[in-house]
Parts: sequence; C-alpha cells; structure tokens
Amino acid sequence: MSSYIIKGKVPLRGKVHISGAKNAVLGILAAATMADETVTVENVPDVNDANVVLEALSAIGAKVKHTAAHTVDIDGSTISNYTVDYESIRRIRASYYLIGALLGKYKEAKVALPGGCDIGSRPIDLHIKGFKALGADVELLPGGFIYVKAEKLTGANIFFDTVSVGATINLMLASCMAEGETILENAAKEPHIVDVANFLNTMGANIKGAGTDIIRIKGVEKLHGTSYSIIPDQIEAGTFMIAAAVTGGDVTVCDVIPKHLESISAKLIEMGCIVEEGDETVRVIANDRLKATNIKTLPYPGFPTDMQPQMAVALSLATGSSIVTESVFENRFRYIDELARLGGKAKVDGGTAYIEGVDGFSGAKLIAPDLRAGAALVLAALAAEGISEVEDIVYIKRGYEDFAGKLRGIGALIEEVNSERDAQKFRLKVG
Ligand code: EPZ
Repeated sequence: MSSYIIKGKVPLRGKVHISGAKNAVLGILAAATMADETVTVENVPDVNDANVVLEALSAIGAKVKHTAAHTVDIDGSTISNYTVDYESIRRIRASYYLIGALLGKYKEAKVALPGGCDIGSRPIDLHIKGFKALGADVELLPGGFIYVKAEKLTGANIFFDTVSVGATINLMLASCMAEGETILENAAKEPHIVDVANFLNTMGANIKGAGTDIIRIKGVEKLHGTSYSIIPDQIEAGTFMIAAAVTGGDVTVCDVIPKHLESISAKLIEMGCIVEEGDETVRVIANDRLKATNIKTLPYPGFPTDMQPQMAVALSLATGSSIVTESVFENRFRYIDELARLGGKAKVDGGTAYIEGVDGFSGAKLIAPDLRAGAALVLAALAAEGISEVEDIVYIKRGYEDFAGKLRGIGALIEEVNSERDAQKFRLKVG
C-alpha cells in the first residue's frame, strides 16, 4: 500500500493552483448523462472518485472521452443499461447520483448501495423519501442494490428533515424532467449545490433558488448538450491554507472563489494569521504561533465539516485550549488517536473534541482513516520535527489531485513511497 513520507518543519511558501471541486463534479458527471447529446465538462479534477464515476458511466454504455487533461466529453445517448454494478462504485459515496440521474431520465435504475468514508452511518433515507415523493417505487435488492422505478415522475414538495448535500443534489437530478414543479425545502446551500444547479440550467433545466434553503425545479421535456467548467474545490483550497498556517509559511491558493472560503479565512484570522483576498486568490501568512479558538461544523455557510480535521491539527499546535464540535457526522474524530502519536493532546467526548495546544509535533508513522483525516495527518506531519509516514493514502487520492506534487511545489519535503527501500532513499536524500 502506498504511503507519503514527509520531513516536516519546512515553512511552505509560494502559489498553488486549486483543482475543480470533487463534490460538485460527482453530481455533474452523473447529470451529464441526462442529455442525448455531448456534454463537455471542464476543470474536472483528476481524483479517484471522479475517475470511478466516469468508468461507471462507460460501463453502462455512455460515451466518455477525455479531450484534455481536465476536460471530458460525455454522451448519454448510447446508455443501454440502467444497472450500475461497476465494482469500484461500491466504495464511493457518490454512486447515489447515478440513481437520481438514471431515474430522472429513464425512470429506472439499479445501483449498488453507496460506500464512502467511514465518518458515520451515511444513510440515504432522505434520497429515498424524495424519490418516492416523485412517484418512484424503491426496493432494496439482495446483493446490496437499490432499485428505483417509476411509470411517471410528478413534481412534489419535499422537506429534508436534515440538511443533506447528497439528497439535495440527487433530488434536483431526479426531478428536473418530472412533470410539474418540485420544491425542495431545508435544502443544502453549499457552493457545489449551486454549481450542479447552474450546470443543469445550462442543459435546459429550470432550477431556481439553489444556494438558498428553498429550491424550485420546474420539470422540462428534455435536456440538451452544453459545455461547463466546474467551480474550484473549497476544501482543497482550505487544506492548503491550513498547510501555510501550521508550517509558519506564506501560501497563496490560486484560481479560487474567496467567498467560498470565508468561514476558513475568518477562523485563520482569529488564530492570528494574515489573510489577503484577491479576485481569484487567497494568501495566508502565518504568524509565529497560532492562537486557540473554537470550531463548530455546520452546513454552508457555516464552518465546513470537511475542514474539521485539518483545523483540529492547527488548533493542536495553537497556544491554549480549543473545542471542536462536529455537528454533521457522528464519527469524524478517528484521526485524534493518530495525532497523539505525534504528541497531540486531545480528548473526544461524543461529538466534541477538547484540544490542548502543544509546542510542537515530532515525526511518527501514521495511518489515514479517511479522506479528510488523511489530509489532516499530512498537514500534521508537515508541521512535525523529523520524518513521518502516512499510510493508506488511497483515501487521500479520492479527493486531492496530485497532493504530494502540489505540496512539493510550495517547498514541502514529501514523496509517495511504495517500499521501505524508497523510504530509505528519501531519508538519505533529505538527511
Ligand atoms: C457530502 O456527503 C460530501 N460527499 C461529504 O464530503 C460532505 O462531508 C457532506 O456532503 C457534507 O457537506 C460528497 O459530496 C460525495 P450529507 P453526503 O447528505 O451527501 C445525514 C468529503 O470529505 N443524512 O450532506 O453523504 C448524514 O448522515 C466528503 O469530501 C441522512 O440522515 O452528506 C449526515 O449526518 C465526506 N439521510 C448529514 O445528513 C440521508 O439520506 C449530512 O450528510 C442523507 C444524509
């Protein structure tokens, strides 16, 4: 299994380009199959989850062609099969978007139940409730499949008991060609929700209110081809901003939308960093020692749950004690024990972590428990004295394009290694 080997305590300095948003592209790639014409999607991040969705689309007959490094053409007119059983699809959460897209267009879908990072139970009851409200029958089949079918899809009023990114996107997909109007209430407002709605509207859909908690979707007869560029990834950008903060560096994230990063910038300013916003850039200049503060994760525009582990690493190196409250997922502190190997001091009680800042970390061997916790452990290793290794980086590759390469680009001593021999070579090289 691949690992990252890192020599820490190098202040990161320079500019880093941010890729397209993973949590926008996964819904958009599925939605692209809903036209019987070619859809061109640009700024597609080269991350495992997006590549798995593209492979699954090919497996059901869609034409998928990479025309450039981050551009893909998708033509759903040749889809001949509504059963998505592509092996890897079971490991990712976003397989559920294939249900919404196939149901919305073909009124039928059989898809392996979604997987995803182990950060909590990850139910899909809100998705199912919405599909049923539109008139679909939903069955859980042996072998771990969900089967949905509808004679007709009719617009409905759907209230989400819990704010859900996935269910909001999925019901936009399933209802955009239904008869009549669908109203989604208590909808998620993340930037990627708006991106998926904007994308569908360029295909001829009629979606209003995305980005607010009430989204109105007027069903249309059909969708047509389009060309669309994905928004930059808010979480990748935030991860590099915190990389600057924890290494005492000066990093500018480029090709971003600063407004999407406001909650992260505000916290870094509270912790004593200088944050400078440009039109499409955010620069983070770390002070000598971070100050403690408290974090509570909330749906957008609150502090993003996907930034919680990374921020907890920064708070672990701050002066004083901090409290991190995770209100979205019930099992998102699995990295705390790994941080303790570096010298971190934190105690978890239910959905809250009580963090006591320490003067510094010293290198250790770490294991990535999930995507964002894995990225956070890399940040911790970059801040640590000496050499660290982070194993199971397959999780990190699900959501970060060329993570090690981009970090090297701003001065990090990090390499991907597949053997003790490679690790030894790195140790000799960095001394
Ligand atoms: C999406 O997951 C993202 N994944 C997650 O990012 C992100 O953490 C999450 O949204 C919140 O922003 C993708 O977009 C692929 P939810 P999703 O539905 O859709 C509960 C990452 O690191 N819920 O907004 O699964 C659920 O248990 C990943 O990039 C139900 O109860 O999240 C959770 O407590 C991790 N029933 C809350 O809602 C449902 O039917 C929010 O989940 C669906 C969700």
